[in-house]
Amino acid sequence: MNSSTPTSAFANTARVPARWRPDVERVLITQGRIRNRLRILAREIERDFIGSEMVVVSLLNGTVMLLADLVRCLSLPLRLDFIGVSSYGAGTESGELIFTKDLRLDVRGRDVLLVDDILDTGRTMTRVLERLTALGPRRIRTCVLLDKPSRRIKSIQADYVGFEIPDVFVVGYGLDFAERYRNLPFVGVLHPDIYSHKQTGTRRLSRLNPPEAMKISAL
Ligand code: PRP
Repeated sequence: MNSSTPTSAFANTARVPARWRPDVERVLITQGRIRNRLRILAREIERDFIGSEMVVVSLLNGTVMLLADLVRCLSLPLRLDFIGVSSYGAGTESGELIFTKDLRLDVRGRDVLLVDDILDTGRTMTRVLERLTALGPRRIRTCVLLDKPSRRIKSIQADYVGFEIPDVFVVGYGLDFAERYRNLPFVGVLHPDIYSHKQTGTRRLSRLNPPEAMKISAL
């Protein structure tokens, strides 16, 4: 289980690269800090999974960078699979979760590491855990890069947490706003100008189709 305390993402003075300055207010977590933190998490995961061939299950799409970097730090035998899940609906808080891709591997009796980019309300992780549990794995551990506990609706915690963050609108390192910004190599805070016109505040809107997202009134 997780033994190291999630690192606080505050107190970062890195400058936003010029290319991203119009859109990104500040760098919350640098590439270097992510890299260092993933190494620590990988050691913990290796310790907890030693002796088993784990199945790493990654949630599409936001985990693309996290997964690639994390598994390269892991020296255990493992297999990879993906679950596609997204939420669409008239509002960011009540959108129905839709599974867009199921596992291909059989996880029955296996040790599973479920990886996601961010634990926000906890709805996604809770729903995916229910679905995975029904497949009969031996055990499931969860790993997220970012944890926003102040937003939690479901009672759930991840076993391995990279960084605990405040309720700010984050993009980059896989996380998007209207499917953009996933390619930023750092986690940044989006300028309110970008999302605030008719948006919902600090909630990430990646779950919505961009045109739909722009229709939402401020909460
Ligand atoms: C995001 C993120 C998590 C989920 C967390 O997924 O990747 O899976 O939201 O939110 P929650 O804790 O409130 O459920 P999203 O549906 O935006 O899809 P994406 O991974 O393709 O960006």
